[in-house]
Amino acid sequence: MRSIGPIPSDIAIIGEAPGANEDKQGEPFVGAAGQLLDRMLAALGLTRGEAGPGRQVFIANTLKCRPPHNRNPEPAEVAQCRPYLQRQIELVQPDLILALGRFAAQTLLAGVVPDVDKLPLGKLRGQVYRVDGRPVVVSYHPAYLLRSPAEKGKT
Ligand code: URA
Repeated sequence: MRSIGPIPSDIAIIGEAPGANEDKQGEPFVGAAGQLLDRMLAALGLTRGEAGPGRQVFIANTLKCRPPHNRNPEPAEVAQCRPYLQRQIELVQPDLILALGRFAAQTLLAGVVPDVDKLPLGKLRGQVYRVDGRPVVVSYHPAYLLRSPAEKGKT
């Protein structure tokens, strides 16, 4: 079996779960929210890409499968996917992790921020947390920004 070595990225962006488009294409953030995310990254001079030179941004989801009817992830589903996400982060060795939205933030900050599941996302933003020695920041999910464009400026 081929072993997979580290594939370093500058930033790992962690979303919630694949939607219908992502499920079809097998890629995270390819629908409308992903297009907004790409525009935001481009505004910062960043691109997403495969492993290799020039790779800057690795994007993954907290959940690896689409919850039926796009419902919110269940705690048991998050728990089941968590080791996979942790392994992805270990392989990518990002300098910074950006958690987009409530579920990514709660998953990544569990055990780091007390009662993280009770805190609104707005309270988790604007700080740098350290998780396993890596800086983690939290921001609004692009799907939320599509519904609430007034919040884009903060993001
Ligand atoms: N929303 C997410 O959180 N992830 C995706 O891949 C697409 C939409």
